[in-house]
Amino acid sequence: MQWVYVEDIAGYDGQDVEIRGWVYHKRSSGKIRFLLVRDGTGTIQSTVFSAEKDHPLFVKFDALTQESSVIIRGRVRKEERAPGGFELGLADIEILQIAKDYPITPKEHSTPFLMEHRHLWLRSEKQHAVLRVRAEIIKAIRDFFDGRGFRVMDTPILTPSACEGTTTLFETEYFDQKAYLSQSGQLYNEATAMAFGKVYCFGPTFRAEKSKTRRHLIEFWMVEPEVAFATLNDTIELGQDLVLFILDRVLTKRKRELETLERDTAPLEKICKPFPRLTYDEALPLLKEKGSSIEWGGDFGAPEETIISGIYDSPVCVTHFPTAIKAFYMQPAPERPDVVLGVDFLASEGYGEIIGGAKRIHDPDLLERRLREHGLPREAYEWYLDLRKYGSVPHSGFGMGLERTVSWICKLTHIRETIPFPRLLYRIYP
Ligand code: 4AD
Ligand code: MG
Repeated sequence: MQWVYVEDIAGYDGQDVEIRGWVYHKRSSGKIRFLLVRDGTGTIQSTVFSAEKDHPLFVKFDALTQESSVIIRGRVRKEERAPGGFELGLADIEILQIAKDYPITPKEHSTPFLMEHRHLWLRSEKQHAVLRVRAEIIKAIRDFFDGRGFRVMDTPILTPSACEGTTTLFETEYFDQKAYLSQSGQLYNEATAMAFGKVYCFGPTFRAEKSKTRRHLIEFWMVEPEVAFATLNDTIELGQDLVLFILDRVLTKRKRELETLERDTAPLEKICKPFPRLTYDEALPLLKEKGSSIEWGGDFGAPEETIISGIYDSPVCVTHFPTAIKAFYMQPAPERPDVVLGVDFLASEGYGEIIGGAKRIHDPDLLERRLREHGLPREAYEWYLDLRKYGSVPHSGFGMGLERTVSWICKLTHIRETIPFPRLLYRIYP
């Protein structure tokens, strides 16, 4: 008999097939038994009807518990009342293992309990939907950049130097040297961009963030394009197009998952180009008006991001942040070196920063000075300075946090559900 996946079941109407999976739920009603089996691609209802109380399939049915592993066989038929529109007329149940006392029952569980059982929690409908949206976004990101002629360049995870400030570095031993887990692939992207013109990397990044928030992971995935000769404006355009491409893909291909998550998609459907833009200077009075105590020179925290993104129905681009609070590599504005040609994209509905980008300093002397001002050791950046010695050109790029994007699109209350095994300030298990 042919083994098929639930998501393909519509193509097998009237045929005898085999489904391999796990018991999701079961119930009986008089002479009929309903068995719901999930196989990772979906959940299917199967039924058996008999007047005999000790029908052999009833005996097996009675032994089944939540998450027992089974192979079921039977004929596919249309059934409008069944979830998914098809069901299986059960002819056989093969039991692989009876699961005893599965800890995650349909009742409510506390978050710490669910996090402790993350390896099992992944099987629940909501978690399943979030991670399918995540997979779709990953695919969309790759399609977007590959479709525009960007070369994918895998940047190293073990690095000798910092990209995003030394306070969030994860230090490790590298034989007889020190190494750090990558905070961003950007510096290496700048080298590959000079070799390939337009590139992107997409990999795990690490930050020893001491802040316990709904938006921070210790290990998260970031996609980072870098384009030789691009201006800040070009980067903003690219970021907008990427966000719109992702939204369109998820809204068309993951409708069902968003429904499972009860995500009202109307606010996402309305988003279009151009996203509103404002400078840091323009943002300050808006923040103060809404009760923030921020003064010029202060960085945006979660409350400031939430206020700004609450003002618009669309993601917002905030540019020209004070130079002093941004990374060493950002290009100061020509007429006003106290602000940089950088941009943060704040997602709508209060979700805060999803993209951070900038024009990079391409003048070798200025870059050297900035390294010194940031107390960064020149030796470790010698190769990076070389990029400004041998055919330096203006260039720009950004980084988009995958989990922040998933969290926003799924409208989750916490980033921990956007990745199969989140690494959090107080959690590295499982
Ligand atoms: O703004 P960030 O720090 O920018 C960079 O790392 C640049 N080097 C990127 C570049 O220009 N190539 O981080 C970029 C994005 C943020 O906008 C946010 O979406 C995400 O990475 N991010 C985090 N996501 C989850 N947990 C954290 N702790 C994050 N820190 C940053
Ligand atoms: Mg940032």
